[in-house]
Amino acid sequence: MVKICCIGAGYVGGPTMAVIALKCPSVEVVVVDISVNRIAAWNSDQLPIYEPGLDDAVKQCRGKNLLFSTDIEKHVSEADIVFVSVNTPTKTRGLGAGKASDLTYWESAARMIAEVSKSDKIVVEKSTVPVRTAEAIEKILTHNSKGINYQILSNPEFLAEGTAMQDLFNPDRVLIGGRETPEGRKAVQALKDVYAHWVPEDRILTTDLWSAELSKLAANAFLAQRISSINAISALCEATGANVSEVAYAVGKDSRVGPKFLNASVGFGGSSFQKDILNLVYISECNGLSAVANYWYQVIQMNDYQKNRFVNRVVASMFNTVSGKKIAVLGFAFKKDTGDTRETPAVDVCKGLLRDKATISIYDPQVTEDQIQRDLATNKFYWDRPVHLQPMSPTAMKQVSIAWDAYEAAKGAHGVCILTEWDEFKELDYRRIYNDMQKPAFVFDGRNVVDPEKLRAIGFIVYAIGKPLDSWLKNMPAVA
Ligand code: UDX
Ligand code: UDX
Repeated sequence: MVKICCIGAGYVGGPTMAVIALKCPSVEVVVVDISVNRIAAWNSDQLPIYEPGLDDAVKQCRGKNLLFSTDIEKHVSEADIVFVSVNTPTKTRGLGAGKASDLTYWESAARMIAEVSKSDKIVVEKSTVPVRTAEAIEKILTHNSKGINYQILSNPEFLAEGTAMQDLFNPDRVLIGGRETPEGRKAVQALKDVYAHWVPEDRILTTDLWSAELSKLAANAFLAQRISSINAISALCEATGANVSEVAYAVGKDSRVGPKFLNASVGFGGSSFQKDILNLVYISECNGLSAVANYWYQVIQMNDYQKNRFVNRVVASMFNTVSGKKIAVLGFAFKKDTGDTRETPAVDVCKGLLRDKATISIYDPQVTEDQIQRDLATNKFYWDRPVHLQPMSPTAMKQVSIAWDAYEAAKGAHGVCILTEWDEFKELDYRRIYNDMQKPAFVFDGRNVVDPEKLRAIGFIVYAIGKPLDSWLKNMPAVA
């Protein structure tokens, strides 16, 4: 029986291993983590992450061929294949601060593997890492090998949160990079055999290590670039009276461009896009390619511009001040169908409103109060630390309150900001919301989920990203 151990029971490790266990009954899968609480949650009825379909998959195989454990050393030493899916935060100090990845956790995982191993192992990079990390890991392992053979593979994960289970069940492609030696090829084949239980062979791509690592960074950079491109166009639409949804539809109809990932928004978030582009920028700079670095950096700058522009629209519309005014924030997760808030644009928007002394009331169907307070108190780049190293609950900010539903959040508010595209925000009783708000009542739709005309008919002043401006806003330029 093949034994797999995955270090890191997070958004990537947890769902990926659940699907491997489900699809490969003959493989034993153990997910280990240094966080005792996280493992306890994986073993309970309340899983530590919200992901549609995950509960079912875990329930079907937990206790059979899927285990969650804190006994890291035991399970690593027994495994044939060790996946590593630990945090790779952006460095906050020293060489490469603000761009390069901090590989502390990766390096300690590699040293631990070398320390406890008694048999040959395939070590799989699942975390997104800078190009040539595998080489560094290989050096740590071989310099401490005690005669054991290690093969390093890069097997980047392409799942998106909220659709992780579908993405894992039916991936566009699985990418496996390995050394081009007989042992390397054998290791690639061993991992390929695992995926071949459910993924058609022509979707399992094999390549060299560096190409696999770089493909992951490039794929995320291309996706993020599409969003920044349409967001750039959204600003132009607002200035000229065009409608960004119409433009995106017309552009996406070209089969060379395609219709997906062209929704203008308040900005992209999530644990990957910004971090991966920063990695790409850093690698380009290190190779003396400043034109390439600047090109990709612009994708992040456009995203920051979009978030600032949104805050400025809110403040400018309300007579240039939100001081002491209640603003309802609907949605805090970085996208719908997840409780994840890493790099969510909601943090920047809320911080921007708080800087202007607003009082905010936040409602999100999946994000806890503790998480929101923590996020608003956390400095940039500190979110990507292992959970147990993050600060305990900070003292709640008194200008921030958490509401149990959208109606409570909006009660007595001057404005409503929609920051996550949760389906329930499309179905709200906006007349009821309007009646309970201060007048004039504003809606700022950062996700284009409402119909501006319907809301205007109720009496709202509506701002929607990239849509023709309300006459109220026309003479209020809000360039970031
Ligand atoms: C993680 C990384 O953050 C990301 O950079 C990488 O691309 C994929 O793996 P994700 O699963 O979304 O992504 O992160 P997270 O939910 O934070 O999970 C990482 C887990 O690793 C945490 O549960 C943490 O406790 C654990 N961990 C971290 C260890 O078990 N050992 C360590 O030394 C460090
Ligand atoms: C992304 C990649 O899609 C995935 O392949 C990779 O493995 C990890 O990073 P994820 O961050 O989970 O996945 O979600 P994704 O659906 O890509 O959304 C990222 C951000 O972009 C979200 O904030 C989302 O709201 C935003 N977005 C997405 C837009 O603003 N407009 C769009 O058209 C699409």
